[in-house]
Amino acid sequence: MLLKKLTEASGVSGNEKEVREMIIEEIKDYVDEIKIDSLGNLIAIKKGSAGYPKIMLAAHMDETGLMVKSIDENGFIKFYTVGGIDDRILISKVVSIGKDKVRGVIGAKAIHLQEPDERNKTLKHKQLYIDIGAKSKAEAEKLVSLGDYVTFFSDYVEFGDQLVKAKALDDRIGCAILIEILKYRYSSTIAAVFTVQEEIGLRGAGPAAYSLNPDIAVIVEGTTCHDVTDIDEPNFATRLGAGPALSIMDNASYYNKNILNRIIETAKKENIPYQLRQTTMGGTDAGSIHLAREGILCAGIAVPCRYIHSPISVMSKKDFEGCSNLVKAFLESIREEEFING
Ligand code: ZN
Ligand code: CO
Repeated sequence: MLLKKLTEASGVSGNEKEVREMIIEEIKDYVDEIKIDSLGNLIAIKKGSAGYPKIMLAAHMDETGLMVKSIDENGFIKFYTVGGIDDRILISKVVSIGKDKVRGVIGAKAIHLQEPDERNKTLKHKQLYIDIGAKSKAEAEKLVSLGDYVTFFSDYVEFGDQLVKAKALDDRIGCAILIEILKYRYSSTIAAVFTVQEEIGLRGAGPAAYSLNPDIAVIVEGTTCHDVTDIDEPNFATRLGAGPALSIMDNASYYNKNILNRIIETAKKENIPYQLRQTTMGGTDAGSIHLAREGILCAGIAVPCRYIHSPISVMSKKDFEGCSNLVKAFLESIREEEFING
């Protein structure tokens, strides 16, 4: 299954090559043009008819993870975090390091050795290390180098009522949906951008938007979902299984109301359940796309994911299908002259 392959690939921000190559294999027979820009964004063009707008679709290839910072005398590896990682999710996780995918585990001072006040605090990532089973610095250096990217090792598992557990659902979900979208032709020209470095500051999408100069952009994402125990309903952000979540605003941008309303209209017409994203936390590539050139109007459609930015994020296949169907139906619904220049 495509989403299994995509989520199990390594793609910490700045190291998107493995994911990019996987996507190229999937789309190359369906698109008119493929380009990789200098930052590493993968841009695929599917030409439409004259008189219709150019639509940029964006999904980021990168995921949060770690990077090798130093190796100590005993062969244990200290690391940086890449992107928004909660230190509390790190301990006892299995990781995969560098291009040879050297396996390791994240270790910490045992509870028996911790002072009483230490037990009440979160161990910071600086206090943790990766154990790759090396006996010395020299032995570790044969396998791992400074600057190597570290990915969580976490397999794709289906459970419950059509739920999926995997790492990097944010945003291999978007990548998988864009791949599916590109199998069809639309009246509008589609510029699908698989972006880089979203998790470290929305860095890839802006330059891609500048070079493409689209009429509007639609960002397809995996987004936060806190519909779990002990959380008040207004803070859920989204609910698992309630359909794709449409963005109104977040920390990085306001989304365009006209496009949002057109997407809602499409969802109603096609009988696709949808929800509005309730809180404003987080941001998407829209944050840099909407500021490109003279401003580019954006919409955001996302699949709710519990435990995002961790090795065990969870989504519903129903939301995933709904999101894919809604993006496709929206593109099919675009009329001549609509959205030209926003
Ligand atoms: Zn994301
Ligand atoms: Co993210």
